[in-house]
Amino acid sequence: MKRKVISMLMIAAMTASLAACGSTTASTDSDASADAAQTEESGDASASAAGGKIGISMPTQSLERWNRDGAYLDEQFKAAGYETVLTYSDNDSGKQVNDIQNMLADGVDLLIVAAIDGEALNTAMNEAADANIPVIAYDRLILNDAVSYYVSFDNYTVGTLQGQFIVDQLDLDNAGDTTYNIELTAGDPADNNATYFFGGAMDVLTPYIEAGTLNVVSGQTDFDTVATAQWNTDTALERAQNVLSSYYADGTQLDAWLCSNDSTALGVSQAITSDYAGSNTVLITGQDGDEANLRNIVDGIQTMTVYKNVSNESIVTLGLVEAIMSGETIDASLADTFGVECTYDTESYETSEGNKCPSFLLVPNVITKDNLQDLVDTGLYTMGDDGYLSAAN
Ligand code: GAL
Repeated sequence: MKRKVISMLMIAAMTASLAACGSTTASTDSDASADAAQTEESGDASASAAGGKIGISMPTQSLERWNRDGAYLDEQFKAAGYETVLTYSDNDSGKQVNDIQNMLADGVDLLIVAAIDGEALNTAMNEAADANIPVIAYDRLILNDAVSYYVSFDNYTVGTLQGQFIVDQLDLDNAGDTTYNIELTAGDPADNNATYFFGGAMDVLTPYIEAGTLNVVSGQTDFDTVATAQWNTDTALERAQNVLSSYYADGTQLDAWLCSNDSTALGVSQAITSDYAGSNTVLITGQDGDEANLRNIVDGIQTMTVYKNVSNESIVTLGLVEAIMSGETIDASLADTFGVECTYDTESYETSEGNKCPSFLLVPNVITKDNLQDLVDTGLYTMGDDGYLSAAN
């Protein structure tokens, strides 16, 4: 009900603000590792009049996937006739609040936000609510009731795919008395997704840990201990080096390392390459299909990644925005119109206790050395003669 009211008010607000459209917008990210700052030209005046102005707030360019998300969202909204304002906030929540406030001042009609910290955007979210601007939480949920909808992948399933992959590869159901050694690395505690990924994986792995088939030699199993602030590769690398020197320097064999995503898997892989005394291949999981990790998969250094097609995520987001803008009723039937496998879920996510957030959840897939061609088939990657994949531009 609240959302419908917001939609109606938003359309009124949009009509009022269209006259102000047509300015040039800029996006910058000063992360040291980021590519050169981009400048986004907004759509032409007639195109923006057809659509409206959309604020796209991304967390950082220092993690590969968000560069793709920002580019796809920007391209697809522009192609559909919207004007866009795209910002990256250097993994700094204060900057993200500021960036969103600037978008509101700039007269955006709707916000798409991938939060750096799901609990740190209240100032900006409350301003959006006061201005009746709908907010779509993109990929990461924002814990504020100003959020109208959530578009993401099934984050819990990402974790269960990683856990089940380890179970299947080590054939734990037929392990008999054999014990396999494992370590765990989770994501950023500020990212609402991180506990879903870790929780999904641990729901699969815990019965094997309890049965003694899997042994976490370091004893480090709780989320806070194994979490990685900002999904930072160097942080994951350092912790992995500490674990290896403290628990494996005596020649103890390590069989698997659960990593919640590719940036952390990269750090863990580096630590294993440089600091692991054993000669066996350590099974390493990941998520995102980052180029360096796909290279490691080809080279047998990382074993799998959970791939999330973020071009499809932006298609679903665009479809949802079109429905909001035209005042359509938003329900499960909308999910069938996107041409992308996706479910409508009104139970799994809450923006505050008891306040369920209607969500459109896409389906993640396991990628290994054996099905890299599936990525090429998406048209979003190319395979070089050397067998390595590059993201197609
Ligand atoms: C998560 C996202 C993952 C991964 C990670 C690090 O929120 O769902 O795909 O990219 O952040 O940025």
